[in-house]
Amino acid sequence: MRVVKTVREMQALSETLRKEKRIGFVPTMGYLHEGHLALVRKAREISDIVVVSIFVNPMQFGPAEDLSRYPRDFERDAQLLETEKTDIIFFPEAGDVYPEGYSTQVEVKGLEDYLCGKTRTGHFVGVATVVNKLFNIVKPHYAVFGQKDYQQLKIIEKMVRDLNMDLEVVPYPTIREAGGLAMSSRNTYLSPEEREKALLIYASMKKAEELFVRGERNASIIREEVRKVLSLKEGINIEYISISHADTLKELEEIPGKALLAIACRVGKTRLIDNTTLMEA
Ligand code: PAJ
Repeated sequence: MRVVKTVREMQALSETLRKEKRIGFVPTMGYLHEGHLALVRKAREISDIVVVSIFVNPMQFGPAEDLSRYPRDFERDAQLLETEKTDIIFFPEAGDVYPEGYSTQVEVKGLEDYLCGKTRTGHFVGVATVVNKLFNIVKPHYAVFGQKDYQQLKIIEKMVRDLNMDLEVVPYPTIREAGGLAMSSRNTYLSPEEREKALLIYASMKKAEELFVRGERNASIIREEVRKVLSLKEGINIEYISISHADTLKELEEIPGKALLAIACRVGKTRLIDNTTLMEA
């Protein structure tokens, strides 16, 4: 396994590799968990060379967000990636990715008006910009993204289509802890009691799925039932409960055959997101 720390070296290496090998890429912000590793395994399965980037991207954090305290542990991440037979870790510095005078941004209009985009102003511009840059540097054939960050996945898919990027975005299902909590690097912020409360997020999604299967198609009723489950314990602060069109992310009132249920809430100080697809069998 090789650790590449500069943009220039990574770009040169990819240029050579791409001529003969299929490059699979998993962009991450590090502090890896089983969710990330499942993406790496998927990339391993479909490509010859697996590149994983670890970069806590300052452009996607708002001024009041957790950039400075975002968890980091490169040595541990590197060990995990070695076990998964990763070929290359791309681990650049912020000053190399955004040199002095940097001023270009990528905005995928429309999709960022919903869900997390409403409160996290500029977040998805930061994501689209860095992912675009990473694609230009790593030059992958495949890029694997988790459905855990559904809106991010949709925005990246749209960017790739809109800008005719020569690669395939490969979605991967959400990996959960026993009990159903979606794995996230931010789960480390949770106290044991908060972790217990956070299980209600999964329970509320199960409730929604159950209602949907029983034939409920009124989005307001399902939203209300989700809210009730999340309110079973004190201390979950709901940011949104959304039932939207799975492609456009527009909020729905009547659910057709399929919809996205997405939830964002704070448990203590920690912001958690999760989602599931309500779909007719
Ligand atoms: P990060 O939060 O580190 O996530 C990296 C990738 O892992 C994303 O595609 C995310 O959706 C996926 N992932 C996270 N938790 C997961 C889970 N429980 N199950 C399956 N996949 C999961 O997302 C980012 O970093 C950044 O925004 C990034 C794309 C790297 C751009 O900076």
